[in-house]
Amino acid sequence: MPSSSKNAFVNTLSVGLLSLASLYAFVYIKSRKKRGGVNRWEDEIDKKSLDGVDGEESKSSNANVESTWIGATDSHISKMDLLHRGHNKGGKLLVVLVGMPGSFKTLIARKVARFLRWNSFETRAFSIARYRLDRFGRKSADFFDPKNKGGNKQRKAVWNEAIEDALRFLRRGGEIAILDGTNTTKERRTMIRQRLQKEDDGRFCEILWIETLCGDDALGSDKLAALEGSPDFLSVDDYKRRRAFYKQGYASVAESEGPFLRIYPQFEKFTLHKTQGYLPTKIVSFVVNLRPNASQKSVVFCRHGESAFNAMSPAQLGGDSGLTARGQKFAKGLAEFLDTQGDTCVWASTMRRSRETAAAITTAKRKVQWRALNDLDVGVADGLSYEQVRARFPEEYRARSTDKLRYRYPRGESYLDLIARLEPVIFEMERWNSDEGQLFIIAHQAVLRALLGWCLDLQLEEIPFLDVPLHTLIRLEATTYGCREKRIKIIVDKELGATLEEP
Ligand code: F6P
Repeated sequence: MPSSSKNAFVNTLSVGLLSLASLYAFVYIKSRKKRGGVNRWEDEIDKKSLDGVDGEESKSSNANVESTWIGATDSHISKMDLLHRGHNKGGKLLVVLVGMPGSFKTLIARKVARFLRWNSFETRAFSIARYRLDRFGRKSADFFDPKNKGGNKQRKAVWNEAIEDALRFLRRGGEIAILDGTNTTKERRTMIRQRLQKEDDGRFCEILWIETLCGDDALGSDKLAALEGSPDFLSVDDYKRRRAFYKQGYASVAESEGPFLRIYPQFEKFTLHKTQGYLPTKIVSFVVNLRPNASQKSVVFCRHGESAFNAMSPAQLGGDSGLTARGQKFAKGLAEFLDTQGDTCVWASTMRRSRETAAAITTAKRKVQWRALNDLDVGVADGLSYEQVRARFPEEYRARSTDKLRYRYPRGESYLDLIARLEPVIFEMERWNSDEGQLFIIAHQAVLRALLGWCLDLQLEEIPFLDVPLHTLIRLEATTYGCREKRIKIIVDKELGATLEEP
């Protein structure tokens, strides 16, 4: 074919194809409209994804749409597939603590379990001491003497029981089991590895050792107080003798034993060996931020003062409104209360209502604005009341009522998204030391529900329903392994201004 005729043919073909494509697009759009299946959420999403500045924006919109269609079970399966892979063989994880008595093993085990549950992983810690206490009661140091044959047999029996329970938990849907015990001898650790080798030829589960070299024979008053609260503690002398017995067979985890994290005294230095993979990396990043030695911590949460959106009748979701006169009165009362609390450090969200609340506090040692603390993003429901959402988008309203924890507002967030975004806040809270002052967090209802859930180790399902009213301070005081909660109400009164009400 001569080249001029060839070009004419190509042009005609292109025009023809273009016309066909336009016709198809026209018919497709028409048919979508006709089917009437496109509700207003989707209209909104379609429009916004087209408006997207770049491909990323459109991509995230699509991700939001899809997620409303993926059931909880499906996403659970894909999480197992994706997140565990990268840690050599994939599959489940057994975290095994290694360390002397009094080296913060239980605290680490419980905190890691809490952290992983908070991240939606089915996790459980198995305390070998708990098994021993339940079975044989409190024992003196002699029980732990390596030469005590009867003691050794009983210790091994409960140790076995804990391992078998941990494996049963993993077989029944658990994702991570944490074995909280001393495991200080090479022989014990080899037995654990041999036991795992029997499960699906070693493919069933991976091991991550966490060895702690913290704690020593010297007992400061803080440490002694913590030990005295332990059901395993008889006396200082007995505790020292027990440690001496454990020292006899102590062998640090060797590289040949597999991936490990070693923690040195004061949590000041760490050694990592083969801890690659999503999950081990996540655990390591959390553990290195723990400060078990830090002086007793407490943190106070409160919502911003009443905002214009809160005061509307009915109240509206989202927005970035400022404080009402009542809200300002609260902020003033809050500032007066904080004046009586010594050194304070305030973290507030970047939203106007939080910033205006924090602005009233003039005596804080430090004020930090933190976007991670911003309110739950309600996406296309922004500026609507619950009633309006129900009337306009009954399907969406129903979906949220069915699963408030996982439900993601189109172009917005779910509680699980919010929890994931709060991870840096959790890390910094763990690193906090009361010597730096009293930590005070000003945020929003959903955010504080999530943080409360973290502090009190609550089931994720409970979080979206926690009671976090306006104008109420929630103080959380650290206990040995958890937190104690206390609430203080700041009553805002027309004539009197703000007064405190402590239960
Ligand atoms: O109404 C105040 C508010 O903080 C909203 O901005 C937010 O969407 C809502 O509470 C979160 O509460 P819930 O998850 O119960 O709707």
